[in-house]
Amino acid sequence: MPALVLLGAQWGDEGKGKATDLLGGSVDYVVRYQGGNNAGHTVVVGDQKYALHLLPSGILSPGCTPVIGNGVVVDPSVLFSELNGLNERGVDTSKLLISGNAHIITPYNVTVDKVTERFLGKRKIGTTGRGIGPTYADKINRVGIRVQDLYDESILTQKVEAALDVKNQILTKLYNRRAIAVDQVVEELLAYADKLAPYVADTVLVLNQALENDKVVLFEGGQGTLLDIDHGTYPFVTSSNPTAGGACTGAGVGPTKISRVIGILKAYTTRVGSGPFPTELFDEDGEALRRIGGERGVTTGRDRRCGWFDAVIARYATRVNGLTDFFLTKLDVLTGWEQIPVCVAYEIDGKRVEELPYSQSDFHHAKPVYEMLPGWSEDISKAKSFSDLPKNAQDYVKALEEMSGAPISAIGVGPGRDETIEINSFL
Ligand code: GDP
Ligand code: IMO
Ligand code: MG
Repeated sequence: MPALVLLGAQWGDEGKGKATDLLGGSVDYVVRYQGGNNAGHTVVVGDQKYALHLLPSGILSPGCTPVIGNGVVVDPSVLFSELNGLNERGVDTSKLLISGNAHIITPYNVTVDKVTERFLGKRKIGTTGRGIGPTYADKINRVGIRVQDLYDESILTQKVEAALDVKNQILTKLYNRRAIAVDQVVEELLAYADKLAPYVADTVLVLNQALENDKVVLFEGGQGTLLDIDHGTYPFVTSSNPTAGGACTGAGVGPTKISRVIGILKAYTTRVGSGPFPTELFDEDGEALRRIGGERGVTTGRDRRCGWFDAVIARYATRVNGLTDFFLTKLDVLTGWEQIPVCVAYEIDGKRVEELPYSQSDFHHAKPVYEMLPGWSEDISKAKSFSDLPKNAQDYVKALEEMSGAPISAIGVGPGRDETIEINSFL
């Protein structure tokens, strides 16, 4: 059963967009199963660069059907601006399917995200401000608005009323903001109904029938393992499950159908927003990784925090996702360092710890224990096979593989589709 999950093994921005696009030509469906337009996935095709936020990266592969699953939160204004942007560049987006059960990011969810962050001050999460957390909160509180609600004005009005009932109290009395009018929201949402209609489908049925007919389905995660609401560095996380199990709930496909789980792993580490990050660098090495790796957020334009590779995190990602493979990205960025530190364990309150501690306080105190690996200076961006890599680069990859607990089946040596070394085929 060819169903693959492709997800971030660290804190996001590992290169999921590139990896998905690379496989897009050989798969029938690419499915987003969680998150929303907090994601920023970059795909480089020839001299064209695309930044996708809500749409699955498979949208750039003509034979592939892109699907937005029930677990995704959809901001309709972002959806249409992204679709228009692609159409203007000649990309056919007509095959897109959107689950009628996906929740809608309403304007008030975006407002609540922004005011909550402002209210938190120094304790803020550093969210993308796209309304992601408040929309999932409404879903769990059973006051969310779903795509299908746009097709029944009376139900939509009642649901918006229910959602704003409490929110307006909070906005006016706690945050000193103006109340949001129900009619205005309903009108704004209804304006999308007709435009959305051609895309809305029972995606659970479509995907399960596709799998029964031996079609190849790729589930594309947004964010990363350490940003997972259950398995990440809570509370500095996103509000959904990017980990492998999220693909089942967020697309309505049973775990027995998943044949392969691929973790996208950057050859060093980055993080955007607040929260602990043991291998973070505050020196010129961190600055160099940011500059050479182009580590600036695709969604918010914020500089990404940069640090050395952390094998404790990679091992953890293998465990909580049941990874079968890694796709190691951005190895080319490490070219030029004489020695490359790799974090092999943590020291927490004087004790060596090999696995990610479950306790938040312990993780906040974790200091990286580094092993130095010899670097290389040769340009590796043209390497097509593992043997084209200089010996020290090969040894770096082998060491990471050994520490991380799953085979490295592909290596990225540049942002382009063809700048990839394939070791084991994913299909
Ligand atoms: P995503 O959110 O996981 O899809 O990753 P982003 O697109 O936010 O960030 C990854 C960045 O690295 C993008 O600018 C990609 O074009 C780029 N990239 C991906 N793989 C490679 C690689 O192997 N080498 C280099 N140099 N850049 C890469
Ligand atoms: P991709 O898919 C990196 C981070 C935010 C913030 C936290 C919560 O491109 O890897 P949210 O807006 O989701 O409530 O913010 O999660 N974050 C990401 N960091 N890459 C992403 O997506 C992210 N999506 C959310 O910076 O720390
Ligand atoms: Mg990104």
